[in-house]
Amino acid sequence: MIRRGHPENIIVGLDVGTTKICTVVGEVVSGTLSFRSMHISSSKGMRKGAVVNMEETVQSVRNALKEAESSFGVEINSVYVSISGAHVKGSHNFGAAGIGGRDVTYADVDRVLDSAKAVYVPLDREVLHVVPAGYTIDGQNGIKDPVGMTGERLEAKVYTVTGAVTSMQNLLKCCEKAGVEVADMVFGPLASAEAILTDDERELGVAVVDIGGGTTDIILYKDCWPSHACVLAIGGNHFTNDIAVGLKIPVTEAERIKKCFGAAAMHMVSDSEQIAIVHGGQDRMVLRRHLAGIIQARTDEFLDLIRKEFLSCSGYDIASTGVVLTGGGALLEGLSSMAEAAWGLPVRLGGPMNIHGVQDMLNNPICSAGAGLVLHGFEASSERMYSADAVRGVFGKIKDWAKEILKIKKGGIEYVRN
Ligand SMILES: Nc1ncnc2c1ncn2[C@@H]1O[C@H](COP(=O)(O)OP(=O)(O)OP(=O)(O)O)[C@@H](O)[C@H]1O
Ligand SMILES: [Mg+2]
Repeated sequence: MIRRGHPENIIVGLDVGTTKICTVVGEVVSGTLSFRSMHISSSKGMRKGAVVNMEETVQSVRNALKEAESSFGVEINSVYVSISGAHVKGSHNFGAAGIGGRDVTYADVDRVLDSAKAVYVPLDREVLHVVPAGYTIDGQNGIKDPVGMTGERLEAKVYTVTGAVTSMQNLLKCCEKAGVEVADMVFGPLASAEAILTDDERELGVAVVDIGGGTTDIILYKDCWPSHACVLAIGGNHFTNDIAVGLKIPVTEAERIKKCFGAAAMHMVSDSEQIAIVHGGQDRMVLRRHLAGIIQARTDEFLDLIRKEFLSCSGYDIASTGVVLTGGGALLEGLSSMAEAAWGLPVRLGGPMNIHGVQDMLNNPICSAGAGLVLHGFEASSERMYSADAVRGVFGKIKDWAKEILKIKKGGIEYVRN
């Protein structure tokens, strides 16, 4: 039986990906977050991280919520949802506020972040996050927590993440039509990073590469702050499509053999191993090395694309501890070692760490964003968003725009731009 009403201490993360929806339920008891359930269900109607068929996406979200509700036994009314896609962009900005020789308060930090938010944003874009990236008081920079310090002028360096209004509205609309309110929308790799990075990596410098089905999201951290983010319109589905074309088999079978027998490079498999491909009700034997050859061509191109991205954003200087690969695409056998060779950086496979409650989530790269969304919700609900010791985290100020642009009318949804 499903208990009606969404208890306030329940936080739900809904990672709506191109291939799957990961619904994660967390519960806060006495100020401590425990993970209660995790569900993976299929996602339809999304392409390269964006909604392309609303009806299908709405139905997929409905199914995901229904499954999560029946397993957890509690109605879900509100979710933290992830957003990605090539339309999401990041930029560095600054804000400043006068303090007048007194101690800096949380309200001052709010003011300085608000002023940093007042940058020119084209009408077709909306600010998703204003992530603080260090404070300066009267010329003294490198301050992580300015609250309580004395000064005349407080400045903030911020990383601003913006997205296309239409893409954000479409996802919001799908969630609302599926019957849930969106508590906040979080850029996918920011959520993933929250769940999978160690404090040392964040401090010393690291890159997160989240390889999904339709997109690959990259985010770099240094000194605990994000310093660059981008989304590449390529993901695990490209590998699958290459296999389907190369072996003349349906995409579903290509997906199956990629997961069961795929390898990132030919030298990783033996010369003679044969695998059975099922097509049209018949088995066909193929050399596994042939499959690896098809995948390797895509692996080389994919890793080179990311290497060029690192070069263009000083990634080699920033990611001094290396790269953490996450997302389902990172599960391709041998991809981490190929990446290490191609990039000349240490590479590890990452999934949610220190997760209590749901063992299936632990170190599982497919749930990184889902787990990170719940962590984000927990941080937001703990009202620790502006204190720099909590901004390890980092999502910056919670925005109201989601609620402002969505005005729900009886029997339908009306959109108004703020
Ligand atoms: N064991 C595996 N080996 C190889 N690839 C895998 C494996 N498991 C999953 N994948 C691939 O991971 C991809 C899906 O990853 P993920 O679930 O992170 O994507 P998504 O969140 O749905 O998509 P996106 O983030 O692009 O919107 C698919 O291309 C799938 O084939
Ligand atoms: Mg994803």
